[in-house]
Amino acid sequence: VHRYHVSIPARPRVKYPVIVDPQALEELPSFLETLHDVDRFVILYDAGLTEIADKVAERIDGAVRIAVPSGESSKSVAQVERIVQDLLLAHVSRKSVIINVGGGMVTDLGGFVASVFMRGIRYINIPTSLMGMVDAAIGGKVYINAGPVKNMIGNVWHPQAVLVDVDILAGMPDRLLRDGLTEVIKMAVMLDSEFFGWFKEHIDLLLEGDRDVLTKTVEHAARLKVEVVSSSEEGGGRMLLNFGHTIGHALEALTNFKLSHGEAVSIGMVCEMQLIDFADQKRVRDMLETLGMPVDLPMDTDVRAMWDIMKNDKKGVAGDVRIAVPTKIGDGVVQTLTRDVFLKRFS
Ligand SMILES: NC(=O)c1ccc[n+]([C@@H]2O[C@H](COP(=O)([O-])OP(=O)(O)OC[C@H]3O[C@@H](n4cnc5c(N)ncnc54)[C@H](O)[C@@H]3O)[C@@H](O)[C@H]2O)c1
Ligand SMILES: [Zn+2]
Repeated sequence: VHRYHVSIPARPRVKYPVIVDPQALEELPSFLETLHDVDRFVILYDAGLTEIADKVAERIDGAVRIAVPSGESSKSVAQVERIVQDLLLAHVSRKSVIINVGGGMVTDLGGFVASVFMRGIRYINIPTSLMGMVDAAIGGKVYINAGPVKNMIGNVWHPQAVLVDVDILAGMPDRLLRDGLTEVIKMAVMLDSEFFGWFKEHIDLLLEGDRDVLTKTVEHAARLKVEVVSSSEEGGGRMLLNFGHTIGHALEALTNFKLSHGEAVSIGMVCEMQLIDFADQKRVRDMLETLGMPVDLPMDTDVRAMWDIMKNDKKGVAGDVRIAVPTKIGDGVVQTLTRDVFLKRFS
């Protein structure tokens, strides 16, 4: 069992475990007993993942179950309202605890609901996708979308615990695996050159579905995320994890989410490296190509429209567009991107 702890110096009350284990689900009942004054558990799950939700429900007596339709479009105000109504029908109170079971969609949506329901209740994340396990479920940033505009409505609201059960990934489709691995590459490029090297050596095994290598990858990446979140809630290391995301989010919106998040981020990383002429960009690009991820802007991309979306990105200050980019493999910086530079490079 690997147990990491998120603790944020500036926020002494935020302290929670991230438990990474092939059988982390077995730990759920004993963890739940450590929570005090709970009147009800709610399992909020991705409707496409009933089998996993059943496994969680088996371990909790009398939990309320609420399903959310699969897909990014469920990260919506409409779903928040619907879920809140279901919570009220089920007599969920301020003493209740929501257990999110799903990928990044559910952990974002469920975390957001937990942050606003009755001014905030407790929640636990059980991520089911690789993306959820190494990124979305850890760190307390919870978002929904405003129509096509990605992650425009959000909050910072930390879970009580994150249980990462690597065995859950067994039935995960390939596309999802590659999406999650794209975020892992992002973390390695920005934070950890040694891990980047290790990852490169093991990528073939990973793609063949080697369980041990996958487990090690999840352990290490989840630890990196925990460290970054713990070192600074805002700014600092955490901003670096936006590598590929300024352009990636704009692409997701522009293609109306036809590109998956991982695909958009892959293209985003390559474009952002091009914008700064990053010396080592070929190594990163090659790795993404080995993974089978797209690395070029779609031919018909309207770059002016893309810029307009980027300008509205919440990371921007006073109309500036900010990008997080590597300075070398394992380290990075956040810098300003001007319209001229962007349009010159891509139109
Ligand atoms: N809050 C954060 O810090 C943060 C960080 C990274 C990503 N995110 C968000 O996470 C989302 C992307 O995460 P995602 O890729 O997990 O998306 P997702 O939750 O939409 O899952 C993608 C698909 O995989 C399916 N799925 C999930 N687990 C599965 C499993 N074990 N077996 C089979 N199918 C499974 C889902 O049903 C869905 O169809 C985006 O909305 C992104 O913005 C948030
Ligand atoms: Zn991401």
